This record gives sequence, C-alpha cells and structure tokens, in this order.
Amino acid sequence: MQYAIKNSLVITKQKEECLVITVQSGKTQSNLIKEIDNVNNGLISQLIKSGDISGELGKTTFLYSSANATKQKILVVGCGEAKSFDLNSAKKVIQATIKELTTKKVKNICWDILTLNPAISGEIAKQLPQITSELTYSFDQFKSTKSKQPSLQKITLLYSDKQTINQVESQLFQGQIIADAITSTKNIANMPSNVCNAKYLAEEGESLGKQYINLKVTCLGEKELAKLNMNAYLAVGRGSANESIMTVIEYHGAKDKKAQPYVLVGKGLTFDSGGISIKPSAGMDEMKYDMCGAATVFGVMQAVAELKLPINVVGVMAGCENMPDGNAYRPGDILTTMSGITVEVINTDAEGRLVLCDTLTYVERFKPKTVIDIATLTGACIVALGHHYTGVMGNNPQLVEQLVNSSNKAGDKAWSLPIDSDFQEQIKSTCADIVNAGGRDGGTITAACFLSRFTEKYQWAHLDIAGTAWKSGANKGATGRPVAMLIQYLLDQK
Ligand code: BES
Ligand code: MN
Ligand code: ZN
Repeated sequence: MQYAIKNSLVITKQKEECLVITVQSGKTQSNLIKEIDNVNNGLISQLIKSGDISGELGKTTFLYSSANATKQKILVVGCGEAKSFDLNSAKKVIQATIKELTTKKVKNICWDILTLNPAISGEIAKQLPQITSELTYSFDQFKSTKSKQPSLQKITLLYSDKQTINQVESQLFQGQIIADAITSTKNIANMPSNVCNAKYLAEEGESLGKQYINLKVTCLGEKELAKLNMNAYLAVGRGSANESIMTVIEYHGAKDKKAQPYVLVGKGLTFDSGGISIKPSAGMDEMKYDMCGAATVFGVMQAVAELKLPINVVGVMAGCENMPDGNAYRPGDILTTMSGITVEVINTDAEGRLVLCDTLTYVERFKPKTVIDIATLTGACIVALGHHYTGVMGNNPQLVEQLVNSSNKAGDKAWSLPIDSDFQEQIKSTCADIVNAGGRDGGTITAACFLSRFTEKYQWAHLDIAGTAWKSGANKGATGRPVAMLIQYLLDQK
C-alpha cells in the first residue's frame, strides 16, 4: 500500500478514483462537504436532510458525483459526534471504510480522515497503516487457491495544518514501518512446525541481517550451546530431531557503539507437544504458535533497523522443539543451568522457562540496559487476562510501568501482575535449588518467579503473550502482538 499526504483539494480537479469523506451526526459539516454540495446541487445535504445519511459511526454510503464527466465515486462515512471523535472511533471509521472499499474494488482514494480532530491526527496517521494491513492480511501460501489481492493500492490523505503536517507525516511513516513489522511477525508465526523449526528461524534472522547493513546476526547450534553449559535449553530440545539453535541479532544505532543495549529475548518453541508430560490432542496444533515470542523479536528488530533508532538493541530468538522421544528429558531429571542453579523437572511441558533461563543468563554478556523477554509461557495467563491483555512482570517497577504505558500508547494492551516473594515459596524443590513448575495457582506469576532467579544482574521484564499472540478457532492465526507495544517502548528510549 502506498500512502501520501496532500494539503489541498479542488473537488473538480481531483484525480483519485474515489473521494472518502466523513460526515458527523448533527448539523455542522465540513467545508469539504459544502464544496461537494456546491458542484452537485446539494446532493449530500439532501441525503442528510432525508435521513439517508445519518453520520452514525462507521455507517457507509456509496455515491456517484454528477459534477464531472468521469463519474467520480464518493464514499460517505459516518463518524458520530465530532466532539466525541477519538482514536477508537477513528479505528471504527477506518475499518468500515477499508471493508467497503474492498467490496467495491476501489484502487485509489483521497480521504479527509485526518482533518476531523487535529488533536489526534498524528495518532490516526500512525494507526491507519496498521489497521489497513491487518484487514488486508492473508496467509495463503499453502492454499491451492490464493485469496484475491486487495484492490486498494494508494491512500492519499488530506491534511492542511502547516504547523503539524511534518509531525503527522512522520507518524504516518512510523505507522507503515510498524505495520510491516507486524506482518513479518505474523508470516513467521503462522508458518507450520514442519517448515518453521529453529533452523528456519535462524535462516530468517540471517536473511534479515543481509537486508540491513546495521544488523549483525550470529547463530549458535547445539555444539556452541553445550560449550556454554546451556543445559536446560539443550534438555528441552533433546527429544527433537530438529537442532536447537539460538539466533542473536545485534543492532548498533547509538553514536556510542558501546552504549548499553536494550535486549529482547523471544521464546521460540517451534512446536510444544509437552514432551513426556504430553499435552492432550485437542488444540495441540496451536502449539506451532509457541514461537510467537521469537517471531515478535524478529519483527521488532526489522522495525528498529528500518527506523534507524539511535540506540543499541540486541534481539535473541531462542529456537527449540519440545518432543517426546527415547532421548527426551523426563520429569524428575535434575538439570544444571548455565548460571549454576539446579532445576528439578516436575513437568516437561513447563519447557519455555527452561529455554529462557539459559538465554537470560547468556545475555548478561551484553551488559544490558534492560532485558525484556517475550513468551507464550503459561495457559494460566489466558485465565487471568483473557485474550485482551499481555501480562507484564519484572524486577523493576519503573520498567514495568514504562511497558504498560507504551502498550496503552500503541493500542496494544498490557497489564501488570505482582511477583512478590510470597510466590517464590511455590518453586522450592526437595532435591534441587528450584522446580520448573509451581502448581496451578498463580501459574503465570510462579513462571515469572522462576525466570526472576536468572535475571538478578540487570533490569528485567517478562511479557506473557499466551493469550494475545494468536487467535484460536475459526479465524485461527497469529496477531503480531506485542510488536507495536515493544516498538513504542524503544521509540521512547531515544
Ligand atoms: N506453551 C505453553 C503455554 C500455553 C498453553 C500457551 C496454552 C498458550 C496456550 C507452555 O509451554 C506450557 O505448556 N505451560 C504449562 C505450564 C505448566 C505445566 C506449569 C501450562 O500453562 O499449562
Ligand atoms: Mn509447554
Ligand atoms: Zn510452551
């Protein structure tokens, strides 16, 4: 999709195939509507008068202008009351508009949506590409009949306020980069486990590294992981025929090449069968999405490189597969992690924290400013927060607060959960330092408690995205969350 901003429009000379105009409920209407009326014998005000156009939020009416020989198309979209027009109403207007334009197979539009409420024009400009690409996304690589390519090719936005046009333009540009990052994350996350294994994640990482000269990509296979004593990570992958590979993507954008980096660690379980503590069959297919944390890291690193952020960032994709096998790790095993902490395996299905704990120890070498891990870690998080909020926990209240703020700003919701010492009791072991599963109660928090034992050397936050990274059921598919929230966090670190 191509986007442009233009600062004036002469109705009779407009070149775009279709003009999309917003109408408010109530009497006042924009000058643009008056101009259209002037060259169309009062067409729109008549329709408003007769009640055919009400201005109701998200209601669309398709018209043909009689003003010129080209039979200009006009899509009128209701935006409700002007005084209550906020980002949420803008989202509804955008959704309704894109859907209607798709049905009508329109290719090229001129749109006044940014002119409605100048106070939030920048925010709307940032959301527009994200909502549009969400609505037009399809994952049909494996379908014999491909879904039709969206007809819409170009969106030209009207905006004339000289004071803010540069800012709105840069928000539009950011929005496009965020939208592309989300699409990349979805494409990787939707890939089935017979294609997307740890090697696939590594190859995707390497090809990203080739695309952007400011990225450096390193892959560590089982031999290298063994040299580093990453035994918990390796134990999880031992039942799989696919090699465990950790992919490290480094971005240097700060003037000071040695400035402390922001580190992102993504859980990359390309399939989680549960291992010997095998999962029930129903819904097990969805465990192909257990690498959404790693896919998020990929998307965010792409955006960071594309935005040329003036900071240093390291993204790690911890690729691995959890399978039952004669060689698989078992319940009762005691593992010595890279940090030296020993772990008694209670449940081989609590594998994410085992892969993450060694990766979190590994990243100490970067002397990180902050470390954020992103993981589809616990079913309990879905019980706690449903599919709406990502769970945020950590060892630094300011960092947790910043992340929640970024999530609100990005419209990619997150909520913080407590991890105080009371919960730590639940991961005591009789024969090792800790167990890997703390029981049903507060399962999201005790998983974070486990990780907290490995993150004492830096400021750390943990995002549990089990409920938000993908949708189940009829419209099954990755959502690309929490890419927008993390990009916002990094944008705010400048
Ligand atoms: N990948 C799962 C978590 C998950 C389950 C995400 C369902 C999304 C939907 C994770 O590896 C897991 O199996 N966690 C266990 C932990 C338990 C054994 C302590 C869980 O949540 O049941
Ligand atoms: Mn599991
Ligand atoms: Zn898992």
